Amino acid sequence: MLFVYDELAERDTVNDAATCRVEIRNIHKAYRLNEQPLEVLAGVSLRAAEGTFVTVIGPSGCGKSTLFSIITGLQQPDRGEICFDGVALRQRLGTVGYMPQRALLLPWRRVLDNVILGPEVHGEDLTAARREAQSLLPLFGLEGFADSYPRELSGGMRQRAALLRTFLCRKDVMLLDEPFGALDAITRSTLQEWLLEVWQQFRHTILFITHDVEEAAFLSDKVYVLSARPAQVRAELAIPLPRPRQREMTLTPEFAALKQQLLQTLAENESAQVRGT
Ligand SMILES: Nc1ncnc2c1ncn2[C@@H]1O[C@H](COP(=O)(O)OP(=O)(O)OP(=O)(O)O)[C@@H](O)[C@H]1O
Ligand SMILES: [Mg+2]
Repeated sequence: MLFVYDELAERDTVNDAATCRVEIRNIHKAYRLNEQPLEVLAGVSLRAAEGTFVTVIGPSGCGKSTLFSIITGLQQPDRGEICFDGVALRQRLGTVGYMPQRALLLPWRRVLDNVILGPEVHGEDLTAARREAQSLLPLFGLEGFADSYPRELSGGMRQRAALLRTFLCRKDVMLLDEPFGALDAITRSTLQEWLLEVWQQFRHTILFITHDVEEAAFLSDKVYVLSARPAQVRAELAIPLPRPRQREMTLTPEFAALKQQLLQTLAENESAQVRGT
């Protein structure tokens, strides 16, 4: 009986949005700051169909990371629901793979032992996990570095190791919070192309956060632009560029127009903020 009750509690709503792998409905969230409520998310809704790449952009501090930490189940919203395949889940921990904004590798662990953290936490067979991780090192550009410590890696390699760690959680939905934020432009563009190749191969549903409109347009099928805090969705823009994407596409008028649209929405955002609307 208890099992049935728990399952019912977890799956409070079933609806017909079965084609949508992830659907966020009307999420509200406030923190407390100096005894006052700090409203962060004011009714955010978004949808990601299975196997698509969906990006969220918005001004710093608007609530993007908060939204992702709610989707993972690390926090609960004050209102709204998070659905997977049309089913609202209250207990979501372990449902998605999550690379937080500051995805720190454990400095005392070698690369291989860092990346198998997910299987280790879930009590899986570590020999098998190490074998799988080892076989994926070349794809993640880390061949030969299994026994290195994080301090012995470049910034780009550390990000790839953190991505491999997220990847090895073996979830078909992955949330990546500014994975390339701290990298130089060349490393960043190399990693974008590399991420698309990996994604092309495994077809996860990816939710991605960035500040960079070019990165958003280059990677995504769809981009949501959030307003300043408290965040609301200002625009939802489809990116109808063909795949596989090549860097040269960023030089086309079509790409420039998409980028312009995103920049304009962000700018409207800012002027609305200045006007206090
Ligand atoms: N755990 C928390 N407790 C209290 N306030 C928080 C907490 N986490 C975030 N905040 C506040 O919520 C707001 C949104 O933070 P969040 O990290 O979600 O923004 P963000 O859009 O990811 O910003 P950035 O682009 O700079 O990463 C900020 O004002 C922040 O101070
Ligand atoms: Mg953030």
